[in-house]
Amino acid sequence: MLIKFNEKLYNADYNLVVGDTYENLTKIENEKFDLIITSPPYNVGKEYETKTSIENYLADQEKVIKELVRVTSRKGNICWQVGNFVKKGEVFPLDIYFYQIFKKLNLQLRNRIIWYFGHGLHASKRFSGRYETILWFSKTDKYIFNLDEVRIPSKYPGKRHFKGPKRGQLSGNPKGKNPSDVWEIIIRDWEKELWEIPNVKSNHPEKTEHPCQYPVELVERCILALSDENSWVLDPYAGVGSSIIASIKNNRNVLGIEKEKKYVEITKQRINKLFDGTLKIRPITKPIHKPSPKDKVATIPNEWSMFNQSGNTK
Ligand SMILES: C[S@@+](CC[C@H](N)C(=O)[O-])C[C@H]1O[C@@H](n2cnc3c(N)ncnc32)[C@H](O)[C@@H]1O
Repeated sequence: MLIKFNEKLYNADYNLVVGDTYENLTKIENEKFDLIITSPPYNVGKEYETKTSIENYLADQEKVIKELVRVTSRKGNICWQVGNFVKKGEVFPLDIYFYQIFKKLNLQLRNRIIWYFGHGLHASKRFSGRYETILWFSKTDKYIFNLDEVRIPSKYPGKRHFKGPKRGQLSGNPKGKNPSDVWEIIIRDWEKELWEIPNVKSNHPEKTEHPCQYPVELVERCILALSDENSWVLDPYAGVGSSIIASIKNNRNVLGIEKEKKYVEITKQRINKLFDGTLKIRPITKPIHKPSPKDKVATIPNEWSMFNQSGNTK
């Protein structure tokens, strides 16, 4: 479907299904999708989930993942974005559990990407959690990987080989360098070595009423590298449609499955806004705000002036 809005052409089909992931997956033909990207429910008692034991949760997820592997194309990839399940203060890193399931189904891990975000709740009985992971698996060893689409500018483009047969020749790639598996800095102007994608919290321009939306730029990066134009992409737990937006924006066909009608309604509104040019997406080029040492929030408040750097009274 070719859609022209605001002088921009989108060449993508999209389809949103309200319903249960597993039930709907069973109706889909084999090997339809080049990329499956999602952030599944974490079983942490969010408004859209009923918390259960980790064993039951993983058994349900394994059923779904079997179906997902079936509908992934031979050259296809799966990106599984998860954080921790926490029970009585004990942390269960979900990627460790999910890795076993995917491995059992013969998928091959290509990267365990650390998505670092500098903000969040402050823990008092353990270190504060500041990253989640994306497990990127391919179905076979002939998989889509468009590195050139996501290269970042080299830090030292003028660097040359200093010995050997290539001595004196430039050692870098004029298209930029591999952005690595730690995503810390924002940028599509990708001047920085690391990518940082701010977590979607209340002051983020993309925030909707969904309690754990992920940022469009996080998905865009995976979509650009791990699918081709006109590929079919699937988000089986689509939420408010961040993967749907990122797919349409980059001319990929996309299917989203989501059980909560209200989130699907928000997705539709976001798609309409994308088409009329009013969707607030955090620009992929916008650097993360770093407070200047002169900003009031970055200076030590008067109330703390009696403490030294170790937090003891002077
Ligand atoms: C972590 S959220 C995904 C958020 C999404 N990445 C976004 O940016 O909006 C997981 C989503 O899965 C949905 N969900 C949970 N269980 C489901 C099921 N059995 N079938 C369909 N959707 C389900 C929830 O309603 C929730 O919106």
